[in-house]
Amino acid sequence: MQKDAKIYVAGHNGLVGQAIVRRLKSEGYSQIIVRDRAQLDLLDQAKVKDFFLEEKPEYVIDAAARVGGIKANITWPTEFLYENLQIQNNIIWSAFQTDVKKLIFLGSSCIYPQNSPQPMKEEYFLDGKPEPTNEGYTIAKIAGMKLCEKIKLEYHRDFISCVPTNVYGPGASFDSESSHVIPSLIKKFHEAKLANLPEVIIWGSGKNRREFLYVDDLAEAVIWLMNNYDGQDFINVGVGQDISIEELAILIKDIVGYEGKLVFDDSKPGGMAVKLLDVSKLTKLGWQAKTDLRNGLKKTYKSFLSGNLRQ
Ligand SMILES: NC(=O)c1ccc[n+]([C@@H]2O[C@H](COP(=O)([O-])OP(=O)(O)OC[C@H]3O[C@@H](n4cnc5c(N)ncnc54)[C@H](OP(=O)(O)O)[C@@H]3O)[C@@H](O)[C@H]2O)c1
Repeated sequence: MQKDAKIYVAGHNGLVGQAIVRRLKSEGYSQIIVRDRAQLDLLDQAKVKDFFLEEKPEYVIDAAARVGGIKANITWPTEFLYENLQIQNNIIWSAFQTDVKKLIFLGSSCIYPQNSPQPMKEEYFLDGKPEPTNEGYTIAKIAGMKLCEKIKLEYHRDFISCVPTNVYGPGASFDSESSHVIPSLIKKFHEAKLANLPEVIIWGSGKNRREFLYVDDLAEAVIWLMNNYDGQDFINVGVGQDISIEELAILIKDIVGYEGKLVFDDSKPGGMAVKLLDVSKLTKLGWQAKTDLRNGLKKTYKSFLSGNLRQ
């Protein structure tokens, strides 16, 4: 991408979108196009098409979606399926029709089968049924990746996808109904510390293992892929290392300075036992994540304390 190219970042107020805009600016890109939800509801097909016709972006980074943790996905499965299909179809199809040069769609590691061998290689995609707790979101993500793949295959247009692992960092949502594990643990421990609570209850057994990518690393990877990758196959983006939720909770408890007990509530769902991406393809292409988990968590907590996180 040329530094003065018109680049539309969809979802720029989100965790990932904010980091992508920060990174584009720091790399010297001068024409970043954004619209917030009040200006452009991405569920509205006609308005999205008009926006593309008027603005004529040359490049599109699609980081807009309805995103949430297990609780939100279980509570609103219909909305996760419908809204994500609609948002991505509107963006990808308008970009296709208005001759956008290149687009990247952000998938998610939930696209891999529930019983996928670990770590998950790109070729395990669609080898089995997805994890049921976020099926709606997953089916939408699969459809978005397939739409880009078909456009690339049939029309030779540069529409690519990547599959990021769990992302965390400054800019995360702290809404307890929809937040992901890291913001939710930071908030819980912080509030428990202030209230002097003797214990904090955590959903699941704590044994499940997850991989976490610092959001600024993901932003760097997405822009790097826009500049360096034009293959038909999607690419995993992760750190290639996982940690149990119990170990993560202990790490966050330590960073926050909470001194009470951790209680794991096994009756609540914890999702897949292990979820780790194989990132060898991306590593071979030439990109690797840089931020170590403790440092990333410290920056995230600092940002939380400064009130820089969405509530
Ligand atoms: N977070 C993760 O762990 C993770 C992991 C893998 C992949 N991803 C993918 O990365 C992308 C970004 O995720 P994120 O964590 O940054 O999510 P996020 O913080 O919830 O941000 C999503 C953005 O999409 C916007 N949006 C949603 N519906 C919209 C609508 N109808 N009209 C206009 N804007 C709308 C939101 O606008 P508002 O600000 O107005 O709500 C928000 O800015 C998603 O595709 C997600 O699937 C995320």
